[in-house]
Amino acid sequence: MILFKYFPLLSLALALPVHFDGSVESNGSTISSTSTSPAAQFTLPNDLTIGVKQVPNIYNESAIDANQAAPGYDLLNISLSDSGLSGLLKLRGEPKNIYGYDFDLLNLTVSYQSDERLNVHIEPVNMTDVFVLPDFIVTRPEVESLDLDSDLLFTYQAKQFGFSIVRKSTGESLFSTIGNPLVYENQFIQFNTSLPKNHVLSGLGESIHGSLLTPGTNRTLFAEDIGDPIDGNIYGVHPVYFDQRYGSNTTHAVWWRTSAIQEILIRNQSLTWRALSGVVDLYFFSGPTPKVAIQQYVATVGLPALQPYWSLGYHQCRWGYNSTERLQEVVQNFKDFDIPLETIWSDIDYMDSLKDFTTDPYRFPLDKFQRFLNELHNNDQHYVPIVDAAIYVPNPHNATEANYSSYVNGAKLNTFLRNPDNTTYIGAVWPGYTVFPDFFAENAQTYWTGEISKWHKDVSFDGLWMDMDEVSSFCVGSCGTGMIDKNPIAPNFAVGSPAGSYPVGFNVSNSTDYEIFSESLASVSSAAIASAEASAGTTLSSTAVATSSSTSIDAKNTLMPGKGNINYPPYAINNVQGDHDLATHAVSPNATHQNGFIEYDVHNLYGHMQTNSTYNAILDTNPGKRPFLIVRSTFPGSGKRVGHWGGDNTADFAYMYFSIPQAFAIGSFGIPFFGVDVCGFNGNTDMELCSRWMQLGSFFPFYRNHNYLGAIDQEPYVWEAVTSATKTSMAIRYLLLPYYYTLLHESHTTGLPFLRQFQWEFPEDSFYAGIDNQFFVGDSLLVTPVLEPNVSTVKGVFPGANESDVYYDFYTHEKQNFTNHKNHTLEAPLGHIPLHIRGGSILPTQEPGYTVAESRNNSFGLIVALGLDGSASGNLYLDDGESLKVSEATFVDFVAENNTLTAAPRGNYAIEQALANITILGVDSEPSTVLFGNSSAKFQYTNSTVFITGLEELTGDGAFADQFVVSW
Ligand code: NOJ
Repeated sequence: MILFKYFPLLSLALALPVHFDGSVESNGSTISSTSTSPAAQFTLPNDLTIGVKQVPNIYNESAIDANQAAPGYDLLNISLSDSGLSGLLKLRGEPKNIYGYDFDLLNLTVSYQSDERLNVHIEPVNMTDVFVLPDFIVTRPEVESLDLDSDLLFTYQAKQFGFSIVRKSTGESLFSTIGNPLVYENQFIQFNTSLPKNHVLSGLGESIHGSLLTPGTNRTLFAEDIGDPIDGNIYGVHPVYFDQRYGSNTTHAVWWRTSAIQEILIRNQSLTWRALSGVVDLYFFSGPTPKVAIQQYVATVGLPALQPYWSLGYHQCRWGYNSTERLQEVVQNFKDFDIPLETIWSDIDYMDSLKDFTTDPYRFPLDKFQRFLNELHNNDQHYVPIVDAAIYVPNPHNATEANYSSYVNGAKLNTFLRNPDNTTYIGAVWPGYTVFPDFFAENAQTYWTGEISKWHKDVSFDGLWMDMDEVSSFCVGSCGTGMIDKNPIAPNFAVGSPAGSYPVGFNVSNSTDYEIFSESLASVSSAAIASAEASAGTTLSSTAVATSSSTSIDAKNTLMPGKGNINYPPYAINNVQGDHDLATHAVSPNATHQNGFIEYDVHNLYGHMQTNSTYNAILDTNPGKRPFLIVRSTFPGSGKRVGHWGGDNTADFAYMYFSIPQAFAIGSFGIPFFGVDVCGFNGNTDMELCSRWMQLGSFFPFYRNHNYLGAIDQEPYVWEAVTSATKTSMAIRYLLLPYYYTLLHESHTTGLPFLRQFQWEFPEDSFYAGIDNQFFVGDSLLVTPVLEPNVSTVKGVFPGANESDVYYDFYTHEKQNFTNHKNHTLEAPLGHIPLHIRGGSILPTQEPGYTVAESRNNSFGLIVALGLDGSASGNLYLDDGESLKVSEATFVDFVAENNTLTAAPRGNYAIEQALANITILGVDSEPSTVLFGNSSAKFQYTNSTVFITGLEELTGDGAFADQFVVSW
């Protein structure tokens, strides 16, 4: 699979390097600047983007096995405390200093913190230079009570220390380091736990992978800006896993509360966890069901934000909407094709020379742009622009840009990352040489709020999209030091998608796609392409030189005392970048924060810290209203404030498939508001893929179509078939908005994921472990998407079918005669996504409108799908959809049993819209009458379904103003 994006080694530079004297370099020779060609722009020298080649320890055959070599510790001075025990760990014998210097003495503290949570904490007695994740970033859970009834038991072996966590109720060992030494060095911590055969583990992200951590999985946790490589480390870091034991029907979770760079190796019967700094701070959650284990973890790191209601509407984005007119045209096209559009997004195209908090004066003149935004808002639509982490450093010799206030203000407030020698760290991102806000700095919030509020006065955005926050930098180290008079430099992204890059199964004779593709390429200046192509040779040859002349791993990766060798740690992780250097495509580990933190320890927190500041800043622009913020790099607790998108996927069926396990994982990390770039980011999509994906995406909480600069257009109106498939799915999504919003609220209050894996819903049946091609939305809707090209059927399984559960076809209302554990073939012609309602559910609906606001003004409905025993239940949550502190809310509980439906409202949010209809599925015989209260109601009966209509007259005070009973 070809992965291409703005990846310096592969990207085509837009211009040739320029020397100080004005001469231009080309393939090693120098040409005079008096040539008649247009003035060339300086390009980031390619060798600055190349790190020192590392051999990842896991692939290094001569690497020392720490389990064999480490001496381990003995546990001494054990004493019981009110909440657990403590003791002293003493290194056994001589230090071995394998990948760092051994600590000889460690403190162990074990505390039973609540009925469900147990903490094992190990840290060096001498804490000099040891990083501890501060409480204000992720709350450090504490002992909640001394009077506990925990199902977890800590046991230990004192000599050659090891410990086990045992589940009391079953006697099962959940976690055990016994038999393998604890390794604790200044740059390397390792412990090993045994696992049962055929384990069912999930979590440990962020990564593009199936939902199960199958034996052989190596997971590197280091936040990285890279286009979604399968199995590589990507944007976020979530050191938590869920261990589902089918034998005992239990699930527990294990979280290491650390921001350290980590690597985890999962094998048949073991899990080895490694970290390159910090302390051991492990939390065990007892479950015992998978959903409860997730909830316990999520409640500990922070319950998810309640997103604004409008965020559930459809979002359209692309890299390449490069003028107000273009945005206007897209919004109008949606209207003309009658495809609901809630939010239009801007990528970096709106910026003036790619600088944060600016707008291009020619392509986005403020007066016109503001008129456009006003019109959008008048139509109840929204606007979300991108903000990058890095801030452009103006060229001091360039009078027109020297006053770039976002740089000047930050510099004045001393809020940029620094080098170890206290000079400013200068990397490079889109606009050229850049600095990076230090979100740990004293004035960071003041600075960031200042920039965002000021900009909001010009550009009245409704939310923000935060990108490049891993934090990404295109060059290795402080490459801009001494270079800022070269600014602005040419951005190093390729324009256009390589011809032929179409999804697997794409029919090359599909002329429509090719026409569109060539049109979009034609819009890219041919001169730019020519110069990019011309420079490709230079790019590649300089890569080769830099790599071969690089210092080798042996010379660089040596032990060092104190913080250690932070740029080249002795243990080299399998960082996904080609050379595996930690500073490749990221700010270097030795960048220093104002409070003394070094990136090495807090790199994985950059996005999370920026999230917090950005959230506060957005709140400042619109006090009291829920900030809408979608970010790329996340950490435990990020869900409290933000939603997340899956990053730079590829327009291919494989990535559509991987969006499902990615959603499961991110949901279990406490970030339910998740979606991927629908129709695919990198490469060209095609009609078939986009049609399938627009339908699948409509069931994800965050529903946004986005793609790469220069790839063909992929708005749903580009192909007739996609338009119609999209409208079908959007009609369902908008109909179900009350159900979706109720689910968002459920996630917000309980921590439950929005999209659910079969194994969470049916935890007692191992047959359903690891199914990643189907999912539940909440508990009630089962989606079976088509995930491959050129087919018109899809296979699916239906848990519990005709045993504990029953399923109804959403479209025909027919009760399905499915069999548990059987693969059923479903009809799925293009434009149709199989969708089933799980019997036993009651779904609140509302007549779809063009926007969310319009939908919210329409009348309600209910879909009642009776279970095998003839009963069903469900609920509705509603509030104004935007207040941060909700003072008025209404909950309605629905229960159906014995041919009676009761709706019991409570709360004080006034719902004015009437109830129009109720559809009851699974009614075996035609009722003679249907009563709404004491009044008889209009109804029809077909296909075992009762359609009750005309209820508006009976619910004029509002659908759920009073309790009501319907009987049939
Ligand atoms: C990387 C982001 O992941 C992508 O969505 C965006 O289009 C580009 N940066 C350009 O801003």
